[in-house]
Amino acid sequence: MPELVDRFGRKHTYLRISVTDRCNLRCLYCMPEEGMKFMEQDRLLSYSQIIEVAETAARLGIRKYRITGGEPLVRPGIEELISGLAELPGVDDISLTTNGLLLAPQAYKLKKAGLDRVNISLDTLDPTRFKFIARRGELNKVLEAVEAAADAGLTPIKLNCVLLKGVNEDEIARFLKLSLEQPLHVRFIEYMPIGHDDEGWRSHYLPLGKVLEEADRLGYVLQQVEGPTGNGPSENYRIVSGLGTFGLIHPVSNHFCQNCNRLRLTSDGNLKPCLYWVDELNVKNALGSREEMESLFYRALDIKPENHEMAALLAGQSQSHVPTERRMSQIGG
Ligand code: GTP
Ligand code: 5AD
Ligand code: SF4
Repeated sequence: MPELVDRFGRKHTYLRISVTDRCNLRCLYCMPEEGMKFMEQDRLLSYSQIIEVAETAARLGIRKYRITGGEPLVRPGIEELISGLAELPGVDDISLTTNGLLLAPQAYKLKKAGLDRVNISLDTLDPTRFKFIARRGELNKVLEAVEAAADAGLTPIKLNCVLLKGVNEDEIARFLKLSLEQPLHVRFIEYMPIGHDDEGWRSHYLPLGKVLEEADRLGYVLQQVEGPTGNGPSENYRIVSGLGTFGLIHPVSNHFCQNCNRLRLTSDGNLKPCLYWVDELNVKNALGSREEMESLFYRALDIKPENHEMAALLAGQSQSHVPTERRMSQIGG
């Protein structure tokens, strides 16, 4: 059985598939409020082209797929992609990362198509602050999405909370309590400088040490836990007797590249070995040829770097290579 092992011995079993760079929000850590230029629709891979790429991935050992965007649910007919992925040999997890705004009415349909679970972005539990961070949309819709996902069995449900200094750090306690009282899995995430190294990042980046300090201050006893089901970099904890868990995703203060198990496919058909660097390989010319598609996957592994250099950037040190110019919404996290 072939495997996708890179120069550093890391085995790749996880493919993140971005289906669009568009989004119905403008989260301040992801996109500018105005003037974002989106891709022309004819540059997007069609669902059948994505499935063709995923067929090669599956032959080479990919077992877990995550659909991302931008916001994946702004692209119509996503259930067609989900059902195509569900038929791939060896698939054992199909998940979706969404901002939740469009999820509630289609949660059952997506589950029926073969979606296993969802990760929902939720950076604040305060409606006014939601408007400040996401600049559009309604917090209520996201909370309805969490309920609808639970009703539809899209579980375990993970909530992605990007911590921003001076913006939502005072909500850590509230999110910890949520993981104690409900079967929800909150992941605190460090703000990453993807495609932009600007003042916004430098002034709002918050290392996650703050979360464990807060748990300690509240007197919580923590157990480090393996689950819930996941393929990503989160380091997970349960507050003793908690119904849910919380996790720390700390790429900047303590990177986890040594355990990287994933490749990315952008909506315009580029295979990205690492979210941070500029390197990518276009799959469009390889469509129609199994051999060429396979060799692209192996080339992606050959050029995959050992790690990103976000911490060096924060310290004002120079970079050993060229960072990507894509924004997070053009990669899908
Ligand atoms: P699970 O399978 O549920 O563990 O998913 P996940 O955590 O891999 O996916 P999700 O899309 O919810 O991503 C959560 C956060 O982790 C986002 O901020 C992503 O940008 C970040 N993330 C995911 N993969 C990587 C990675 O390889 N490197 C870095 N630096 N961040 C990542
Ligand atoms: N840093 C960290 N996480 C980010 N996300 C988007 N932009 C950033 C960033 N700059 C998160 C979103 C979503 C996931 C795909 O990535 O909140 O949950
Ligand atoms: Fe949209 Fe997600 Fe970016 Fe927010 S983080 S603007 S929800 S793509």
